[in-house]
Amino acid sequence: MFAIELDYELIHLPMRQSNINKNKYSKFAYYKQKNYMNNILAKPFLKWAGGKTQLIKEISKLLPDFVYKENFTYIEPFVGSGAVLFWMLNRIPKLKKAVINDINQDLINTYKIIASRPKELIEILETLEIEYYKVETDSTAKKAYYYEKRNLFNSRQEDKCLHAALFIFLNRTCFNGLYRVNKKNEFNVPIGNYKRPTICDKNNILAVSMALQKVEIICGDFEETLKFANHYCLFYFDPPYKPLSETSSFNSYSKEEFDDAEQIRLRNFCKKLDTLGYTWILSNSDVKSENEKDMFFDELYADFNILRVNARRSINANPNKRGLLNELLITNQIKNTYVKAI
Ligand SMILES: C[S@@+](CC[C@H](N)C(=O)[O-])C[C@H]1O[C@@H](n2cnc3c(N)ncnc32)[C@H](O)[C@@H]1O
Repeated sequence: MFAIELDYELIHLPMRQSNINKNKYSKFAYYKQKNYMNNILAKPFLKWAGGKTQLIKEISKLLPDFVYKENFTYIEPFVGSGAVLFWMLNRIPKLKKAVINDINQDLINTYKIIASRPKELIEILETLEIEYYKVETDSTAKKAYYYEKRNLFNSRQEDKCLHAALFIFLNRTCFNGLYRVNKKNEFNVPIGNYKRPTICDKNNILAVSMALQKVEIICGDFEETLKFANHYCLFYFDPPYKPLSETSSFNSYSKEEFDDAEQIRLRNFCKKLDTLGYTWILSNSDVKSENEKDMFFDELYADFNILRVNARRSINANPNKRGLLNELLITNQIKNTYVKAI
C-alpha cells in the first residue's frame, strides 16, 4: 500500500471522434487530441511528502472572487508534486499563467523536461519499466537494479532527460516515495516494496506536458517569485511543515533545512505581499493540535485569518500515527470575501 495517498480526482472529458493526422497538428495539439481521447486530465506525476490532494476541497473554499472573474496569474513558490497547481489548471479557466518554483533542482528539472521533451522522457521510462518488471520476481536482481539506477542518478548525468526519468523511476520504486538527500545532495532512500509500480504513466505525462505550456518553471528560493506578481495574482504557499514532534513529521526535501527561522522569513515575505496588495493562501501543520500551548503559528500570523481544517496525512515514521490531522489554512483575505464553494 502507498504511504502517500494519490487519489487525485480525475475529471472525464467527452470522447472526441476524429482521425488524428499527426502532420496536420502541432506537437502539443496532437498530444491534446490524444489526451482527450484517453479522457485524461493532468494530475501530479509524483508521490510527494505533504502532497495537498487531501486539502484541495478546503483550499478551493478560500479562493478569492477574482479567480472567477478576471484573468489572473497563479504563483506556487513551494510546488512539490503540484496537487493544487494541477487542480487549478484543470478547473479555473481564468488562470492565464502560472509560475511554479521549488528549491529542489531534481524536481524542477523533471517539470522542465516533461514540459519540453515528453516523448523522449516516455521512451526512457518505458525502458526502465520493462527492465524493472523483468527482475521483479528475483529480489536480489531487483535490488541490484534499483541501486544501480540510484547510483546513476547520483552521478548527475549531463543528460537532463535521463536524469528526469531516473528521478521518476526512483520516486515510484523507493521506500514510501520519499525524497531524501544527504549533505552531499545524494539521494539515499532505500528500495521500496511496491508490487509492479507504474513507472511510465504515459497518458499523464502527455497531459502534464500540455498543461505546463502556460506555466513558467523556476528553481530557487520562494522569495524569488515576487517578481512575477501582478495586479491579479494569487499566491499559494505550501512550505515544508513545521514538525509536530521530533520524530513525527517529514520535512526534509533538500539539503537545506526549513527551520523556525525559515518559517519566520516566510511570514515576513507574506506580510510584504500583503502590504503590496497581493492575495495569498498558505498551509502548514497545526502544531497546536499536538501541543495546546504551542502558539507558534497563531502568533506568527496573528494579523491574518487562520482556519483549522482536517486532512489526511500519511507520511509518518510510525504507521499508527498516519491519520487525520489538523492543518492550518491562513490567508490575508478579509473573512467572507473569498468564495465559499465551487
Ligand atoms: C510541503 S512540500 C510542497 C508539497 C506540494 N504542495 C504538493 O502538493 O506536493 C514543500 C516543498 O518546498 C520546497 N522547498 C523547501 N525550501 C524551499 C525554499 N526555501 N524555497 C522554495 N522551495 C522550498 C521543498 O523542496 C518541497 O518540495
